[in-house]
Amino acid sequence: MSPLILAISYFFHLLATVVWIGGLVILVVLVWPEARRVLERDTTLLTLLTRLRRRFVPLSNFSLVVLVITGLVQMSGDPNYDGLLQFNNDWSRAILFKHIAVAGMVIGGVVLQYVVTPALERATLLLERGKGDPAEWERLRRREIRLTWLNVALGVAVLAFTAWATAL
Ligand code: HEM
Repeated sequence: MSPLILAISYFFHLLATVVWIGGLVILVVLVWPEARRVLERDTTLLTLLTRLRRRFVPLSNFSLVVLVITGLVQMSGDPNYDGLLQFNNDWSRAILFKHIAVAGMVIGGVVLQYVVTPALERATLLLERGKGDPAEWERLRRREIRLTWLNVALGVAVLAFTAWATAL
């Protein structure tokens, strides 16, 4: 494969990594805790969290598409690659573990986007209208935070397996 194609692929693969994994880490380590401290349980916090969620989700979904496409390019261009479902060397085993961690992130993302977020946004809307149950909102919010931390841990695992593969 031409070095130029591989270089362009790695560039977008790394950019998508920064956006997705970097975005997740900044959200859970910096933005959410500080927003909570400053805004407490004011409705402004509800609005901020909804806006952040709505802006980050399309970015993370697009990053996943870019990572899969560029990842397939990089895999097919790697001398260690023995073909689909061939795990005869440590490199392909490291990439397999990486894919399992990526699959975990995708499942976490689907549960967040199609189960937790709709329920959380409904609870937020009711609270903003003074009708909702704060305990229900808190329960859903804790689920969102736990699932996002799980995705951060899986993202770190993806980087660990990648480091192993790159070293081989
Ligand atoms: C959350 C998703 C992913 C993240 C965060 C991620 C991250 C990375 C990073 C940081 C590198 C190192 C690039 C370098 O050495 O300059 C890399 C390399 C690579 N990635 Fe991914 N990646 C992801 C998903 C994928 C997927 C889905 C595939 C395959 C379909 C893939 C295949 C590869 C391959 C083949 C390499 C080169 C490994 C080597 O140098 O030996 N990645 N990835």
